[in-house]
Amino acid sequence: MAPVWSIVVAAGSGERFGGPKQYAPLGSRRVVDWSIGVARRVSDGVVLVVPSARVADSEPVDAVVAGGDTRSQSVRCGLAAVPDEAAIIIVHDAARPLASDKLWHAVVDAVRNGADAAVPVVPVADSLREVGAGPVDRARFVAVQTPQAFRAVALRAAHAEEPEATDDAALIDAAGGFVVTVDGEAANRKITTPDDVEMLGVLLS
Ligand code: CTP
Ligand code: MG
Repeated sequence: MAPVWSIVVAAGSGERFGGPKQYAPLGSRRVVDWSIGVARRVSDGVVLVVPSARVADSEPVDAVVAGGDTRSQSVRCGLAAVPDEAAIIIVHDAARPLASDKLWHAVVDAVRNGADAAVPVVPVADSLREVGAGPVDRARFVAVQTPQAFRAVALRAAHAEEPEATDDAALIDAAGGFVVTVDGEAANRKITTPDDVEMLGVLLS
């Protein structure tokens, strides 16, 4: 089958957390190690993107590279280390340690079935207001997660002009590509503040 590679982005500074949250302990290992674990089970190769001071500090992966100043730049640092043989590339935030293997497989399957990109989404629980405007209909919106899977050619093309976005599927949309959504997972929360690690710890135990 077409080779699948993963890029795990872990090069952020965790400003809102108060430090690099990807290295915080969660259960028996660090947050980043959970993300590497599922990436290794699901893909043929894994590229880990880390802060430059951490390049020597990783569970075994196929390549460890230093990231950039923004998430999009870090994804591009990872992309440069993914071999051309990769037909499907998954991009995952290290800060989402509890995405299931099933979810990773679901996004890959959607790309195998013809999508340029596949992105997990979950309903929004809170009511929503547009800043400076007013209430909006929550039913029209979903929240976007990772892992996101891509046809490798589409992901490389979307990043060619070095655009910025908070996720990669948005770049495929901007390029007019075919983006498919799959059901995300409530437990697949992104760690943002220390409370989030505590909550995921409870979910684990
Ligand atoms: N990330 C990255 N390179 C960056 C910024 C972010 O690899 N320059 C990674 C983070 O390590 C994280 C994921 O992208 O796994 C999502 O980013 P975010 O949750 O915003 O993490 P941080 O940027 O580290 O946190 P903050 O925005 O609070 O500083
Ligand atoms: Mg950030």
